[in-house]
Amino acid sequence: MVGFLSFVALAVALAAPAAAFPAHGSLAGLSRQELDDAMSGFGEYTRPPPPPGPLEYGGVKLVNDADHPFIAPGEGDIRGPCPALNTLANHGYISRNGIESPSNIVRGAMEGFNMNNDLSKFTCYAAFMVNGNLITDLVSIGEKSPKTGPDPKEQPMATIGGLNTHNVFEGDSSMTRADFYDGGDVESFNETLFQGFIEYSNRFGGGRYNLTAAGQFRLKRIQDGVQHNPTFTIVAPRLFSAYSEAVNPINMWVDGRQDDGQLRLDHARSFFEAARFPDDFHRAARPMSADNEAVVHAIHPIEPGANIAGVNTYTVDRNAPRLDDKCGIFEYHVNHTLRTLYPNPTGNLLDAIRANIHYFYTAMEARGCTEIFPYGRFEDGESNNYYAPPDYPEVELPELGTLPFPPVELPTYSDPLVDVGPGATTA
Ligand code: HEM
Repeated sequence: MVGFLSFVALAVALAAPAAAFPAHGSLAGLSRQELDDAMSGFGEYTRPPPPPGPLEYGGVKLVNDADHPFIAPGEGDIRGPCPALNTLANHGYISRNGIESPSNIVRGAMEGFNMNNDLSKFTCYAAFMVNGNLITDLVSIGEKSPKTGPDPKEQPMATIGGLNTHNVFEGDSSMTRADFYDGGDVESFNETLFQGFIEYSNRFGGGRYNLTAAGQFRLKRIQDGVQHNPTFTIVAPRLFSAYSEAVNPINMWVDGRQDDGQLRLDHARSFFEAARFPDDFHRAARPMSADNEAVVHAIHPIEPGANIAGVNTYTVDRNAPRLDDKCGIFEYHVNHTLRTLYPNPTGNLLDAIRANIHYFYTAMEARGCTEIFPYGRFEDGESNNYYAPPDYPEVELPELGTLPFPPVELPTYSDPLVDVGPGATTA
């Protein structure tokens, strides 16, 4: 059974894109040129290709190089809420127009930032499946676009809205972008929020953004939401992405030759605001996961939940997986969010969904998660023999007013990145 909070979150999610993108609900109303653009280049359906494996060379390397110059987005190019994808597009690691396939995004995130293969696949497929066009295998890194192809028929819940669609992947308490509730713009860099990021880095990080600053700033942004946003929610996948995004800058925006987990604030601004690699930037020294998010989480542990009756009514959702339950987050995203968007796909769409769930699963394999087949297997044809409704445990009585959690003593930890010298070799 799906919990009440999950239902509220998804209801908001499904209502929000319609309000945000009233002009793009279908191809109706597009100009001739837009329609031609939308329909051209989409031939016969073929099953989407699998994502690439790990990089052959996974060490430090100049990435702001002559082959990847910064070029600001031109007319019609799309940018969105992820400063890293915007950077990859501005430097040509992914398509400069902001429309890309998931396999190329995985490749770009590995090549440009040395994000490890599993984290690239997990992040990318979690976002792609709920925001992209599964038939054409294209997603917009920002707003909904006809360039990802026509929406599949008879799936009214599936918005194919691009990465800035609220609450199916994009969510509340971003570090430098406003909540959807604060006017609907979830993708523009917000200077006021960035000043908070600087303040916390100065107060807790000694002038650098590091794990200690991240732990404090993550809690602050969650508290901001709880106190000012009546629709505030942080359940899967947002709980995962919020913590992953808190450590990604520490893991992947520190120059790989520096490799000490201490992000310079001028470099932070370069990524967050300008979506630009600093001059001479070298990617991380080794493929990076987000596993040190556990350190950040331990500073102020937060359980998944939402404001259920206005501000300051944060309630823990016992049905939603907790941050350390990665298999649970994977299953919840497929069994709950994806299935709500696509309750009864058939034909090519069914084939594409099965393929994408499998590609998503390959990111979880090494963690020992079990593969799931909520839409059946390829060999089942149109029949969903393996279909079984997910068996989520019944919700316990909600706990109201659990935030702010009682302050926890700062754990003593040795930052795994701090002691590591710049030993990696250059390409
Ligand atoms: C692999 C494909 C990726 C996808 C699909 C993706 C998607 C997204 C999305 C949708 C958001 C907005 C979430 C929100 O704040 O509500 C976001 C934010 C963010 N992403 Fe990515 N991302 C990817 C890779 C990366 C990489 C490689 C990095 C770092 C090198 C990164 C760093 C960040 C950061 C720091 C934010 C938070 C922005 C803020 O809170 O102000 N992402 N990403």
